[in-house]
Amino acid sequence: MTTDTYYANGNEVQLFEQAYHQRLPVMLTGPTGCGKTRLVEHMGALLRRPVVTISCHDDLTSSDLVGRFMVTGGDVVWTDGPLTRAVKAGAICYLDEVVEARHDSLAVLHSLTDHRRTLYLDRADEVVHAPETFMLVCSYNPAYRSSLKELKPSFRQRFVTLPMNYLPPDREAEVIVAETGVPLPTATRLVRCATAIRTADEAFHFEPPSTRVLVTAAHLIAAGATELDAAEACVLAPLSSDGAVTDGLREVAVASLAGADTSSTPH
Ligand SMILES: Nc1ncnc2c1ncn2[C@@H]1O[C@H](COP(=O)(O)OP(=O)(O)O)[C@@H](O)[C@H]1O
Ligand SMILES: [Mg+2]
Repeated sequence: MTTDTYYANGNEVQLFEQAYHQRLPVMLTGPTGCGKTRLVEHMGALLRRPVVTISCHDDLTSSDLVGRFMVTGGDVVWTDGPLTRAVKAGAICYLDEVVEARHDSLAVLHSLTDHRRTLYLDRADEVVHAPETFMLVCSYNPAYRSSLKELKPSFRQRFVTLPMNYLPPDREAEVIVAETGVPLPTATRLVRCATAIRTADEAFHFEPPSTRVLVTAAHLIAAGATELDAAEACVLAPLSSDGAVTDGLREVAVASLAGADTSSTPH
């Protein structure tokens, strides 16, 4: 089992590859923990390109992306930022959670995302033409409303968008088994638990439990935790920051684990 094993959910691997060969930038959308980063790592291995990941946040400046002059031992030297290094290396540059970055910081990407495929380093007075193998990939979670941020439509339209989502239940259970080694029935119950919460009436109140939290829960179970304890700690507790998971929701989650070894918990 290598860390870049990726379970496809449709034709996203093919579309990603086609975009790469046509030198088109890609935008991955979908909920947290559904496999976006894993897909990029997988494509890097498949296309034999290094992946340079940049986690976006609201303090990120264009200088953080392209580089800046730095004083080293009395000399002022231009130092490439991660985006510039990725362009020069012909790598896959992955801007994770790009919606977190300010619009003006992202403006530097425009000339890279169209036919020019060029990075203008105005301050360094340098123009960098992207090699054929350079690819820009961004991701964001459109349902994540609490940040009150949105990408400009004009920015979104520069990309081939690949919408991603959780795998179908049987495939998601396979991922959990492959990642953690728990038995399939355990993985199936964890997926059933997550699905029950994802489809509950109250689901719009919170970010739904992701494949990531199920993998984490399965790791705890592999280490000896009961399924109920693992589900409580990894699936239910993170749903709300104030612990206000309703009894109804907890019941739904617990019922979906029915069939688990509950010998330590009387019912
Ligand atoms: N399609 C998938 N194939 C393999 N593993 C997956 C997949 N989707 C989710 N996972 C598991 O969930 C974890 C979180 O996925 P990740 O790619 O980091 O999510 P995202 O970047 O969308 O937040 C991964 O480390 C992996 O264990
Ligand atoms: Mg990610």
